[in-house]
Amino acid sequence: MKTTSDFIKMKAAGEKIAMVTAYDYPAAKCAEDAGVDMILVGDSLGMVVLGYDSTMPVTVADMVHHAKAVRRGAKNTFVVVDMPFGSYHGDINETLKTAIMMMQQTGADALKLEGAGEVIAVIEKLTAAGIPVVAHLGLLPQSAGVLGGYKVQGKTAEQAATLIEDAKKCERAGACAIVLECIPHQLTELVAANLIIPTIGIGAGVEADGQVLVYHDMLSYGSHHVPKFVQQFADMGKEASSGMVHYVEAVKAGTFPASQHFFTMKEEALDQLYG
Ligand code: KIV
Ligand code: NA
Repeated sequence: MKTTSDFIKMKAAGEKIAMVTAYDYPAAKCAEDAGVDMILVGDSLGMVVLGYDSTMPVTVADMVHHAKAVRRGAKNTFVVVDMPFGSYHGDINETLKTAIMMMQQTGADALKLEGAGEVIAVIEKLTAAGIPVVAHLGLLPQSAGVLGGYKVQGKTAEQAATLIEDAKKCERAGACAIVLECIPHQLTELVAANLIIPTIGIGAGVEADGQVLVYHDMLSYGSHHVPKFVQQFADMGKEASSGMVHYVEAVKAGTFPASQHFFTMKEEALDQLYG
């Protein structure tokens, strides 16, 4: 399995890091078999799997439940788990307890936290306790209400300069990688050039050291809104719908199950049964 130092080496060598989210056993297995470098058990699970309209209702218990399944499906891939909304802004010792519990119960390789500001001290604390931390800057879905929606971040020179400083602070605090979400590609290039740790972009251009996409978005699985920065590499939704329609038709028409799908009793046993 690749480690945090391998990711730093990949960045130095200009080798791109491929990351994708997964929330269950089959998706994790699919990602690992395809050669994904890092899997994220994102709190986006709230939207794409649990049907909420934001990441806010997602709990630590939800994250642990899904992360365990992902770990079982991808034993040899670096797994990062999101700390959900509200789980790392209270008392720092409570946060550390939660983080340790998440690591121990899920077998994750790292945890991801959104933002800088007071989160810098949390990155420092968790790293000191031996927990690799992935930072997350730019569009912060857990703060969508404060940001005024899901919008591109860092478009002005002032915001861009702040983001570069925040990224450096995350690195200094010990972060092992940084996710950059929805920022102009020129800013991504600047952030990446200022750091030793890899930047993983989503809606942040090709200049990032790696890319991450949401499983359900990139495979077009489910009926949620898909953002502009996503390329759909497959159409699972279409395949699934068509399969389901055919199943219903076959049941109604009595053409399923066919003889190869059912079991037969011996004549002798049947005779006895009828007496
Ligand atoms: O939860 C998630 O899927 C994420 C990615 C968008 C980076 O945090
Ligand atoms: Na997330």
